[in-house]
This record gives sequence, structure tokens and C-alpha cells, in this order.
Amino acid sequence: MSQTWWRGAAIYQVYLRSFADGNGDGAGDLAGLRSHLPYLKDLGIDAIWLNPWYPSPMADGGYDVADYRDIEPVFGTLAEAERFIEEAHELGIKVIIDVVPNHSSTESAWFKEALANPAARDRFWFADEPLNDWQSIFGGSAWTQVPDGQWYLHLFDPGQPDFNWNNPEVHQEFEDVLRFWFDRGVDGVRIDSAALLIKSDTAYEDLDEVHDVYRRWREVADEYDERILIGEVWLPDQERFARYLRPDELHTAFNFDFLSCAWDPADLRRSIDLTLATHTPIGAPPTWVLANHDVTRPVTRYGRADTSFAHGGALHGTPTDLELGYRRARAAALLAMALPGSVYVYQGEELGLPEVEDLPDEVRQDPMHARSGGTNPGRDGCRIPLPWSGDEPPFGFGTGPGAATPWLPQPESWRKLTAEAQRTDLGSMLNLYRTALRIRRELLGDGTLTWLPSGEKVLAFTRDSGLTCVTNLGAEPVPLPAGEVLLASGPLVDGLLPSDTTAWLSPQG
Ligand code: GLC
Repeated sequence: MSQTWWRGAAIYQVYLRSFADGNGDGAGDLAGLRSHLPYLKDLGIDAIWLNPWYPSPMADGGYDVADYRDIEPVFGTLAEAERFIEEAHELGIKVIIDVVPNHSSTESAWFKEALANPAARDRFWFADEPLNDWQSIFGGSAWTQVPDGQWYLHLFDPGQPDFNWNNPEVHQEFEDVLRFWFDRGVDGVRIDSAALLIKSDTAYEDLDEVHDVYRRWREVADEYDERILIGEVWLPDQERFARYLRPDELHTAFNFDFLSCAWDPADLRRSIDLTLATHTPIGAPPTWVLANHDVTRPVTRYGRADTSFAHGGALHGTPTDLELGYRRARAAALLAMALPGSVYVYQGEELGLPEVEDLPDEVRQDPMHARSGGTNPGRDGCRIPLPWSGDEPPFGFGTGPGAATPWLPQPESWRKLTAEAQRTDLGSMLNLYRTALRIRRELLGDGTLTWLPSGEKVLAFTRDSGLTCVTNLGAEPVPLPAGEVLLASGPLVDGLLPSDTTAWLSPQG
């Protein structure tokens, strides 16, 4: 792979707890991931991004980190993580891990020290009374009182106390943590809640000083060969967003503007044009994201009357045409994979899994659900353990006859969606992703696009290689430009591209 492998990479997101359970305890782990590396190699991805794998009380699925230099025992050991990194590298797959710098866990050594000793509280935000009326992003107050009467700030769950980035020790700690993992061969880090680190008395989002943090991190990354920083930056203003991608800051950031788009030609084209216009001048490659562990799965999203995504779960349980959603998710996947830059695939997206919307309340684990008083269903429905094989739960998620029930229940209907069932079905979502990723590796990825003239319900463009991508978002079938169809998300009808379908046409000449 080139010096700049990340500019056009296909990155597969592994939510470890739900990927594969190697020891049969009901939770995914490193043993399960290692045993499925050949599946990922065969899928054709360039890199794996793992959600947090550190020791954690799991107040927020591992985003409450108790120790940044070790592995959660449920997932395995540090030695196993090192072995996994080597094995992935042997297969030509890069490894990206999650770093969580905005907050820690109440079980971290620093927070325990702070609780025991009021003189050791400056690494967090403690005060005699709440300094403002901020609400936690998961609901409820962002301040919680400790037994001696002081209060601490947590933008998320009370189990996730926010760091005070005015304290130099916090800066030093994270630079050391980056080196700890880069020394172990990790190729990049995904930075959680990257825009929230710096706080003033009245604001916490996107304060200018946060860029100083990432300039320093970039220096650390640049001490190594080809290590990258990826930001989780949810900002409505794309100009502000692009500031994180200046040449001496982060390498890339997730394109949530694109993810949040409705399945609508004008909205998608607006987002694509805006993305290119903000990234090109600073030389940063765009990213294309349809799914992750925080958002409603595309098959479900695209099957609703309102196909856009917004946090808060307001559309949860609204009428959904899953067949329509599935068809659009296929078309969206080919569109995203054809655009210039890197692309993310969230585990299960390649299987066409829908959101599970009928989980009983008592099994829900996401703090969003509890802290919203049940009004927000939370994110468990996109985190259901993967179905690998067989006809009934746990669908090969846990190996062996004694495998425990998975930590979240899988729907019976997923028997049709297992990786095993899809492997031999040429028309399956899995095979669409495999073929698309193979073609993409050769003809797509980093570069530019040229829009082709088309009707207003059609998105049509040509890439540097000459490959043409056409997506029909209108109701009527449309003719395709000249060229051989390399791949289509659904069958053509009389040579025409039907509604909600994408086709890739081979380079001409
Ligand atoms: C990010 C993560 C999300 C987590 C939150 C707090 O948004 O993607 O899962 O709950 O940060 O760490």
C-alpha cells in the first residue's frame, strides 16, 4: 500500500463486544475477532477500527475507560491485542484503535485518587456547586455530586468524568498513551468526541484551543511512520469542521453530514459538493460514512418516510419498509464507495442488518435509554451481536455447544442474514460489498470526481480512473451512459437503471 494508504482506504469498524465471541461467554472478544480475520481479508478491507477495548465498567459500552494502557479482561489480554495487531498486519490489514480523551471512567486511577483526596482533583472538573446548567448529552444534569459535597462535570454518563484539559498532566498523559499504542504497531487512532475537550465557563463545543491539542498529537504521530489521527467531529458548520483537517492537525474525520442526509438527490449532492469544497483546498481526503455504533442502521433509516438521521431516536418505531430500505442501502453503499476519499463499513452493514427496534426495555444497556427516562431507545439496536451461521440464535456468534446467550438478543429472522447464508448467494449484500470493495481497490478511492449531466433525480459522476457511477433516486427508470456495467446494486430493467439503484460503468477506451 502507498505511503498515504489512509487517503483512499476502506475501513471496517469492529464493535468488539458484538463481533464474535471466542470463549462462549456471550460477549465478543479478541479471540473471536482473530478467528474471523480471514473473513475480513476476504471482504477486501484495508483497515480495522476497533471501538474501545480497554478495561471498563461499561457504563457507556467501553467509552468509560478505566485504564488506557490495557485490555478489558472480557475482551482478552494485552498480549492477545499485540498478537492481533501482528496477525492483521500479516494479512495486510491496518489497525486503528479508539482513544477517548474527553472523559475517563469513575473507575480510573486518577478519578479514584481525586475522590480520595480533594487536593488531587485538578485533572477533572470539580466545583463546590455546578458551574452552569449544562445537560448531559445522554440526558439529565451534566453535574453529579460526590459524598463530600463537591460536584464533577460529565458531558455524558456520570460514569464518564470529563478531563480538565487546562491541566498539563492531561496533555502529557495522552501523548504518552498515543506513544504506548504506536509503539505496539497501531496504525492510527480514532479520537472520540474530538471537538469537546476544551471548556470555558459557558461553552464546550469546538473551542479554538482544541486545535493546539491536535497540533501536538500530530507531532507525536509524525514521530512514527504512517500513523494517522481520525476525528469524531460532529459539527453542523463544515468550515469549522474542516479546520480540524488542516495539514498540521488530524488526517481525516468522519463525514457525518453525509451520513445524516436523507435519501434525496438534492440533499446528497449538496453534501457531496460541500464536502469536496471544504476538503480540497486543505488537501484532506473526504470520508464517506453510512453507519456506525451510534446511529440507526441504513436499511431501517432508508425504509422510513423520513430517511434522514438525527440523534434522539424520534423516528424509532415509525413505519418502515425494510425491502425498500434494503434496496436503497445497496444503492447507497455503491454511491459511498465510488466517492473520492476513504469509506467506512460498520460491522453488519455488509450483511444488510436492519436496526433491531423491538428490544425489551430490560435488556437495553445504552445509558441514553435510562437517562432519557426511556424516551430515547438508545443505540443498542445497531449493536446486536453479528449472525455468522446456523439457523437459530446465537447464529455462530459464540462458538461451541455451551455458548452463552449473546449479551443482546438476536432476532430469529436473522437466519436469512448470516454470513454463511450470504456467502454462496451471489445476489447477497455480502457479495455486493465483496465485489464492490475489490473493484474499488483498483479503480476508486483517493482522487477527484467530475459530475456528468443528468436529470435532477440522478447522481452521475466519473472518477479519475474513468469509472462512472450513476445512482437513480427518482421513481422512473433512467438510461445509462455508454459503457459496460461492472456492478449494479440491483438488476437493470430493459437496459435501464431502475429507481433506488446504483450502477458502476467501466472506464471507456
Ligand atoms: C462518541 C461515541 C459514543 C459515545 C460517546 C461518549 O460519540 O461514538 O458511542 O457514547 O462518544 O464517549
